[in-house]
Amino acid sequence: MIAAEYHFPRGFLWGTATAAHQVEGQNTNNTWAEWEALGHTRGRAGRACDWWAGRWKEDLDRATEGGQNAHRFSVEWSRIQPTPDQWDEEALDHYRRMARGMVERGLMPLVTLHHFTDPLWFAEHGGWEATDAPQRFARFVRKVVSALREYVSHWVTINEPNIYAALGYASGEFPPGLQDPRRAQRVLVGLLRAHAAAYHAIHEVQPEARVGYAWHYRPMQAARPRHPLDRLARRVQYNAFNMGFPTAIVTGVFRSPLGRVRLPEARGTQDFFGLNYYSADVIRFSWRRRHHLFAQRVHPPGSDLSPGGMIANRPEGLFRSLKWASQFGKPILITENGVEDEADGLRRRYLAQHLRATWQAINFNIPVKGYFHWTLVDNFEWERGWEQRFGLWALDTTSQKRSKRPSADFYAEICRANALTSEMVERYCPEAFADVFPAGDLPARIDSPSV
Ligand code: FCB
Repeated sequence: MIAAEYHFPRGFLWGTATAAHQVEGQNTNNTWAEWEALGHTRGRAGRACDWWAGRWKEDLDRATEGGQNAHRFSVEWSRIQPTPDQWDEEALDHYRRMARGMVERGLMPLVTLHHFTDPLWFAEHGGWEATDAPQRFARFVRKVVSALREYVSHWVTINEPNIYAALGYASGEFPPGLQDPRRAQRVLVGLLRAHAAAYHAIHEVQPEARVGYAWHYRPMQAARPRHPLDRLARRVQYNAFNMGFPTAIVTGVFRSPLGRVRLPEARGTQDFFGLNYYSADVIRFSWRRRHHLFAQRVHPPGSDLSPGGMIANRPEGLFRSLKWASQFGKPILITENGVEDEADGLRRRYLAQHLRATWQAINFNIPVKGYFHWTLVDNFEWERGWEQRFGLWALDTTSQKRSKRPSADFYAEICRANALTSEMVERYCPEAFADVFPAGDLPARIDSPSV
């Protein structure tokens, strides 16, 4: 069989993404540590991947040996600023060493400044609903950027503001565990203002910086396409979850069913679009789901589901998401994509199919510049704790021993070749071959003398 290849552009970024609280361990001074202590999660972060004690080094060696050339990580605000008027220079030094360690290993660091956790003092002061929250965040951001600018030029201000607001303030799975859509909107506006303040602060400190935020986008369709209530629920959910924040970054106006807010300072505050994509949704109207704007998210019947049932393997949704993201006219980074799969039975085909969708988008001239797989080593998955395993490497939390999943080798081959080849797909996930290389039968016909 003639080998086929999907080549990626020269300089394409291949990495994995992590977040401080999920890998560091020993965090005690933030809202998630408290949430875990109150028993709201399945297990506690504990030592996590033990990065704070130094295991980031061996894991980044794994990333480099795995052919990667970039890494996305986050800094923990509660460590750097343990109280409002105190900076911990040692914590900043730790992150400087990490950023330098990445550069030395040939990994371009992409730094997230806020990834779900807040310092306890910040939450006690009203969190993102407090009027001075954006200034407080910008002050912290200035401090971090000044400390890391020697090694870092690409910044993600805030990770998934929509998930933070929806899960913390509407559905209640994240701290502070509220079910109040009105407050969720207020928090989203606070995060918008904070993002804008951070964007301007970063450019003041480092004019050449490239700044974006990481947006969790989900394509959605109505379960019953002609059913007016399903269509309505889909539209409301789609606009609230996907559109309000990114639109405000373009127009400077945040619109929601609860009203309009003018934020001229947010206009034009992105240099790249950070896209987190996991799956797509089918929306069904449900009277019981008041806190979710009457929407029930389901997977299409017969979906290729992750073991816990959370993620349906919908690579066409990534293509649609990239097309959607291209409307913002900026380079795009896929800042997260991956699947929970302890046995690694699904991950290889999920990866191949999503990278094929990425390649396809690039060939439609959508400017995708990099891909960050979630994640390098199994880590602490928020309220789902240790029940979900997203790592290319498996983690034994007791011994801290890592073991390589086949997907790690697969991803390494892709990164090294800067390509996904038919030969790799045949070896790692033959079951997806016909989908990933749909013209697989072509060579036989070309070779045939009767043609
Ligand atoms: C995203 C989060 C990330 C991780 C993945 C699985 O929503 O940004 O921290 O938990 O989901």
